[in-house]
Amino acid sequence: MSQKITVILGSPRRDGNSERLAAAFTRGASEAGYKTKNIRMHGLRITGCIDCRRCWNNGSHCFLNDDMKEVYESLDGADVIVFASPLYFYSWTSQIKQAWDRLLPYFHKNSKVDVRGRRAVLLSTAGDNDESCFDGLKRSFELACAYCGWEIVGEICAYDVYESGAINKKADWLKRAEELGRNL
Ligand SMILES: Cc1cc2nc3c(=O)[nH]c(=O)nc-3n(C[C@H](O)[C@H](O)[C@H](O)COP(=O)(O)O)c2cc1C
Repeated sequence: MSQKITVILGSPRRDGNSERLAAAFTRGASEAGYKTKNIRMHGLRITGCIDCRRCWNNGSHCFLNDDMKEVYESLDGADVIVFASPLYFYSWTSQIKQAWDRLLPYFHKNSKVDVRGRRAVLLSTAGDNDESCFDGLKRSFELACAYCGWEIVGEICAYDVYESGAINKKADWLKRAEELGRNL
């Protein structure tokens, strides 16, 4: 059976730079036989974690009854989890940060789904022309993955891409993302 990839898209901009990076990645991964699913966070009705400490109390991941259900469903069976986010104030977009915070049920003592050992990928884009703009985001990603027990199998952080679609004109980011997907 094909391995599964869940791609969490964090940009509010449809077909923007980070979504193009993600599309290149999934093109490569599909060629390699992976089954991929994109989840665009923008437009979903998802709130942040409210720290109610009621994970799994009603039999499901979270007490909040919102569109995070769709994300949990996809993450439960994912072999690879991809976070594709533009850099917003040196960090994740709020859309994607909400998804991160709502992962808490997976690490609750009563969790019914063991996500440790999964593989994870970071895809990000930024307008800044200095790669160091990603330092904070990468550090956050690396610490969070260590906490989750996930192996990071790739990080592609494309800089100097501000306007939507600018990524097509810059260096070889899309090619690199496609290769990463193909060689997972
Ligand atoms: C609210 C906001 C905050 C941003 N913050 C940063 C930033 O801290 N550093 C940076 O280099 N670019 C920043 N940008 C630019 C975006 O990261 C850049 O345009 C990116 O390519 C957008 O990706 P997208 O097309 O997938 O939405 C910001 C853009 C917005 C709208």
